[in-house]
Amino acid sequence: MQKRALITGITGQDGSYLAEFLLSKNYLVFGLERRVSSKNRDNIKHVESKIDFISGDLSDQNSLTRAIQQSRPDEIYNLAAQSFVKASWDQPEYTGNITGLGVLRILEAIREIDPKIKFYQASSSEMFGHVQQIPQTEQTPFYPRSPYGVAKLYGHWITINYRESYNIFACTGILFNHESPRRGLEFVTRKITNALIKIKAGLKDKLYLGNIEAKRDWGYAADYVKAMWLMLQQPNPDNYVIATNETHSVREFIEESCKYLEIDLIWEGKGLKEKGINQKTGKIIIEIDPKYFRPAEVNMLIGDYSKAKKKLGWEPKVKFDELVKIMIEADLKKNLS
Ligand code: NAP
Ligand code: GDD
Repeated sequence: MQKRALITGITGQDGSYLAEFLLSKNYLVFGLERRVSSKNRDNIKHVESKIDFISGDLSDQNSLTRAIQQSRPDEIYNLAAQSFVKASWDQPEYTGNITGLGVLRILEAIREIDPKIKFYQASSSEMFGHVQQIPQTEQTPFYPRSPYGVAKLYGHWITINYRESYNIFACTGILFNHESPRRGLEFVTRKITNALIKIKAGLKDKLYLGNIEAKRDWGYAADYVKAMWLMLQQPNPDNYVIATNETHSVREFIEESCKYLEIDLIWEGKGLKEKGINQKTGKIIIEIDPKYFRPAEVNMLIGDYSKAKKKLGWEPKVKFDELVKIMIEADLKKNLS
């Protein structure tokens, strides 16, 4: 029989790749979509006609209950969240409500409607925050550093708690940063690729950034959604780290992007006064703006995905250089077409 899946966050980066992946596996795909003043289906427009959209919001219990009653899914993937870490200091209560309590609302609906529904929760490496161990594994103690990280930690533990309390097949994927051409423009990788392309084409003067020494374990979103699905196909529910086991600084991401775009970048100055200069033109193209710094920073993340490799047979295919190339190529097409 054709399997049925409900994806929350279908319009986001991961939701769009997961929808494509599940459609390729012949799933009937339902997508929870919140009401917004103008529809935002750019990421899924190529598969839009194959998706059954259901209106709902993670802040509204009844809408979630109805969405599950309507779709009768075998599997639910909860990818919806207020996902921008920086915004979580501006809207901490909202972030707690959506990113944290939203998870509980779906679990409650599963418990009431059909506890046999399998559930995937999008947990995050942001929960490791001020890291207690290098690299981070499923056993590493958590130390979140943002209201977003704290909210994700609630979502993580409530998922485990409902698994242990009600025997729900509920998995958590502790995913490290993953990017793609569909990444929102405010996240640092996409902000860099999009801006450098415009600068190179003479359409923009400067890129302003915050802490360029922060290091992340960056993978490719299309690789990572497969791991989500694999988790729900196992005999038992569990928690898995999904990462590349490499870490690179924001500075390195800029340098790799410039290399690919053949921009001759040199750095001058230190700290807040540091500037990135295009050696050929002599123009300052990168400056530091304190407004992009965070009240508390996650300095470094690097994940150990050996459990996922052993139990799921999952490994990342796209590594750092290839990821930069994929993002630049796609932004070049979008910006200059
Ligand atoms: P994203 O692009 O920001 O997508 C978030 C999705 O959630 C969007 O579809 C958004 O809808 C939806 N949403 C937001 N608030 C909602 C609400 N109140 N009710 C219903 N839907 C709502 O995020 P992503 O990068 O795909 O990430 C997917 C999930 O993985 C998120 O939970 C994120 O926190 C988590 N995660 C991401 C990463 C990463 O590096 N990408 C790593 C670890 C964990 P609109 O289109 O209407 O805004
Ligand atoms: N966004 C942004 N903008 N980040 C900047 C900037 C800037 O101008 N300048 C420096 N950074 C630094 C941030 O301080 C952070 O250390 C790093 O770049 C990455 O920032 P983001 O791309 O915004 O991602 P994130 O790591 O905070 O959060 C992402 O990954 C998490 C997993 O670890 C999001 O996708 C979260 O939803 C996800 O859970």
